[in-house]
Amino acid sequence: MKREIIITSDGSTTIHLPELNEQYHSKHGAINEAKHVFIKNGLDIIPSDEISILEIGFGTGLNCFITFLETEKKINYVGVEAYPVDENEIKKLNYTSELNADDCKDVFEKIHNVSWEEKHEITNNFSLIKRKQFFKDIEDKNTFNLIYFDAFGARVQPELWTEEIFKKMFDALKPNGVLVTYSAKGSVRRAMQSVGFLVERLEGPPGKREMLRGTKNI
Ligand SMILES: C[S@@+](CC[C@H](N)C(=O)[O-])C[C@H]1O[C@@H](n2cnc3c(N)ncnc32)[C@H](O)[C@@H]1O
Repeated sequence: MKREIIITSDGSTTIHLPELNEQYHSKHGAINEAKHVFIKNGLDIIPSDEISILEIGFGTGLNCFITFLETEKKINYVGVEAYPVDENEIKKLNYTSELNADDCKDVFEKIHNVSWEEKHEITNNFSLIKRKQFFKDIEDKNTFNLIYFDAFGARVQPELWTEEIFKKMFDALKPNGVLVTYSAKGSVRRAMQSVGFLVERLEGPPGKREMLRGTKNI
């Protein structure tokens, strides 16, 4: 499928899919969205000193890179992605400069250059496994403290916002684990609740009224 790099409202790049009229991030700001949804309402509320994170849709690696920049805690990061971005696309992404993190350019490059399916120590306190996998094939149990649920919207991929997928997410979390997503749809909230999540509606990122956070409250 054709992919184009575009600039969002906060100056950061994202990937646009013309055939679906869908983006990898909010047009109102890719970095703003990632910081609000996944860091402020996800990473920042996890009390543990060591945090295992599952990302649903590794894409450009933006959420992974921001997570690296935003915490000194020990992070074990697993990114699942069926259609990896290619080298030319990665070169066009402006995340290191827009995040004032040119001194960590080597980390952003390493995140993309390391092989798939193996665990890599990106730094002393940040490990990464990139899994080339379809979301429907995820079978992890009781493993993660936090899930970044960043699939394309329900408008284009309704099959990824179902009870079946959220049950997999619930099972993959440890007790008290948390799932955050930019979506605020009622049908998504109900699917999350039906598999056992305690769901909160939170203020959304710029351009969006609300977002959802689910906790595995057992
Ligand atoms: C909204 S984008 C993720 C953006 C990403 N978190 C980032 O920061 O760039 C959704 C991602 O899910 C991937 N994807 C779509 N359908 C998938 C599927 N069924 N299984 C696995 N990955 C899928 C896409 O290739 C895309 O990278």
